[in-house]
Amino acid sequence: MNDEHTAARLRAALVERLWVTGSVRTESVADAMSWVPREVFTPGAGSLARAYEDRVVVLSTDERGLPDSTVSQPAMVALMLEQLAVRPGMRVLEIGTGSGYNAALLARLTGPEGEVVSVEVSAELAVAAARRLARLGTRVDVRTGDGWVGVADRAPFDRIEATVGVPDLPPAWVEQLAPDGVLVAPMWLRPGLELAVAWRRGTGGMLVSTSVARCGFLQLRGPHAGPGRTHALTGDLAVIGEDLPPAALDVLRGLLDHGAVDAGPVLGPVDVRLTGFALAEPRSVLFLGHPGDGMTWGLFDPERPALAVLMQDRILVYGDRDAAVDLYYGVAGAPVVNADRLRLEAIPVAPGLPDSADTPNAPDAPDAPDAGGRTWTVEREHYRYRLTET
Ligand SMILES: C[S@@+](CC[C@H](N)C(=O)[O-])C[C@H]1O[C@@H](n2cnc3c(N)ncnc32)[C@H](O)[C@@H]1O
Repeated sequence: MNDEHTAARLRAALVERLWVTGSVRTESVADAMSWVPREVFTPGAGSLARAYEDRVVVLSTDERGLPDSTVSQPAMVALMLEQLAVRPGMRVLEIGTGSGYNAALLARLTGPEGEVVSVEVSAELAVAAARRLARLGTRVDVRTGDGWVGVADRAPFDRIEATVGVPDLPPAWVEQLAPDGVLVAPMWLRPGLELAVAWRRGTGGMLVSTSVARCGFLQLRGPHAGPGRTHALTGDLAVIGEDLPPAALDVLRGLLDHGAVDAGPVLGPVDVRLTGFALAEPRSVLFLGHPGDGMTWGLFDPERPALAVLMQDRILVYGDRDAAVDLYYGVAGAPVVNADRLRLEAIPVAPGLPDSADTPNAPDAPDAPDAGGRTWTVEREHYRYRLTET
């Protein structure tokens, strides 16, 4: 059997699996994924078989050796295309061209009457992607630039898909979205909570979600990236947190240097409560690597200063011991939140906009359960995000 046949067989098997697992839900997405040869876009995969595993393939790395571009996991690619609901003839903007694989899928979905513009911050990656796309005979307008500003000269777009994570919606994307358009973006909301959200316009400058799924993406690069969410501490240890300026990180390093006291057991099981805890507690942090190997949740308060971390079924506390009490009750009292069942609203923050001041409750506190389920608020520069359990 030659490579082309093997690739076709592997591609069909992958699409079949994605149907079964529910990532592929429509004939159009199945057709696109059955048509685009992923091996063309995954030079780092090493073999045909690996190109068709349901895995991320690293495309390039930064000076620290960490991935700065990847070809996303096929299940995630399919899921976001389903959220996007592209139809033939549409005009689509993709942010984060990477390898060009998803752009090729978008081109297949929009068909000969459609239009795909894709923007990539790395000139090198953009050139390589444009070359692969041209070799396949796929019409995609690949631009080099900061996707934060969108592509104004080709707007409006029926669909906008970001394949790179953002902590806030860039106003340019919203401006460049057609009135009845759909915008899909991986939104980083809290440590351990990144959601692929499909947005449509609501009233008064608001956006409302039409579907939500858990995801994990590289973060937007460049001047609009905002404060990094993952910070190196010492050795292999890194921390993810909401608002961790350098001074707070120094406090955290100091606490870790002083060692911890065992503050007793937690009220288990805690795993299912961590999303609810992170949503309600802006001081929540997530450690990668030691302490605890793997991922360790905690509560860090630079003012006290104090850090309490969950270590399996116990709480360790560094500094002010009251942090252990906050962590204990924060986790024990947190609701079990099913991220797929969250409904999000993005309310513009700019002064004078009609919806900007209508959230009566304090930011980040669970609101009164008036509209059905519980609600939480996450504040960002351009939008305030209200999450409601449905
Ligand atoms: C997960 S990869 C995208 C995968 C890609 N869609 C594919 O099919 O291969 C994220 C990409 O976003 C790019 N990126 C990061 N920041 C960006 C920015 N500000 N503007 C445009 N692209 C950006 C990265 O260089 C990386 O190639």
